[in-house]
Amino acid sequence: MSNKIALTGIKPSGTPHIGNYLGMNRPALELAKNYQAFYFIADYHALTTVRNPETMNQLTYDVAATWLALGLDPDKVIFYRQSDIPEVMELTWILACFTSKGLLNRAHAYKAAVDENVEKGLDPDKGINSGLFFYPALMAADILLFDTNFVPVGLDQKQHIEIARDIAQAINSNYGSNVLTLPEASIREEVMTIPGLDGRKMSKSYDNVIPIFAPSNQLRKSVMRIVTDSRRPEDPKDPETDNVFAIYKHFATPEDIARVEKGYLEGGLAYSQIKNELYELLEAEFSEARERYGEYIQDLEYLDQVLLQGAEKARKLSIPKIAKVRAALGID
Ligand code: TRP
Repeated sequence: MSNKIALTGIKPSGTPHIGNYLGMNRPALELAKNYQAFYFIADYHALTTVRNPETMNQLTYDVAATWLALGLDPDKVIFYRQSDIPEVMELTWILACFTSKGLLNRAHAYKAAVDENVEKGLDPDKGINSGLFFYPALMAADILLFDTNFVPVGLDQKQHIEIARDIAQAINSNYGSNVLTLPEASIREEVMTIPGLDGRKMSKSYDNVIPIFAPSNQLRKSVMRIVTDSRRPEDPKDPETDNVFAIYKHFATPEDIARVEKGYLEGGLAYSQIKNELYELLEAEFSEARERYGEYIQDLEYLDQVLLQGAEKARKLSIPKIAKVRAALGID
């Protein structure tokens, strides 16, 4: 166990699908075995888009129940709600004063929103709230407040980590070298594109997902709907391009992966058989977690208690850290 810190924010967005699980939950839980992990629910980030209080509340509990059901140990991982850490807000402003506006102008999410407006012939900033513009500064505060070393994220977040580094560097070079720790992105390349039912990237916006906590019969139905080509059982098949295999290989043992790969190349293995195997694997992987999820989501008091305890632990670090930063600025 290293004493390095791995931190990541989870934007509340409903129970995860297999693509989220492989890209986010599983690697994060794995990483928590080797690092001091800080995982938090990024509710203030969600506020840039989630404007309904019930939805916000429900999504937050959903994230908490999901992670606990998947085995996050709240005694080991510091697991909290971003909004329970007021020092994040304080640091955000401090960072903003060292963040060139041009840097935020170039951030992907804001830039994409502007480009879309321009393309439609609208005012470039139409419908864009300043929260979206400031999103990377808030994220930098999440990271820099805890002297984070590694930030496990998907490729889409890489630029945000670079922005956090830039801001930290600007502060360090102004005040001396060790005010803030420079974080590094840790990006999992190999699970980046999990195909959905139709073969496109698995994503809620394509409506092609396999939700991990779906009831067994629904899980089975989803797996059976994964699109394959029309090769018959006896035909050789290509494991490189098949959607079922692309998911299967993340759950099966190395021996089974080798067996199926061989069966594909030589022919004689039906898609329906591998779909059945995949269903069994998913059922084995998720059935207990699904039940636990059902229990946690009924027990909001417990979820609150877990998150508050996490926030207390986090604040033991964030309070002295913000004091140190303020002292460096001459505001103390
Ligand atoms: N922006 C991240 C996402 O959309 C969530 C996030 C917020 C985050 N703060 C963070 C990730 C800090 C890593 C570190 O998924």
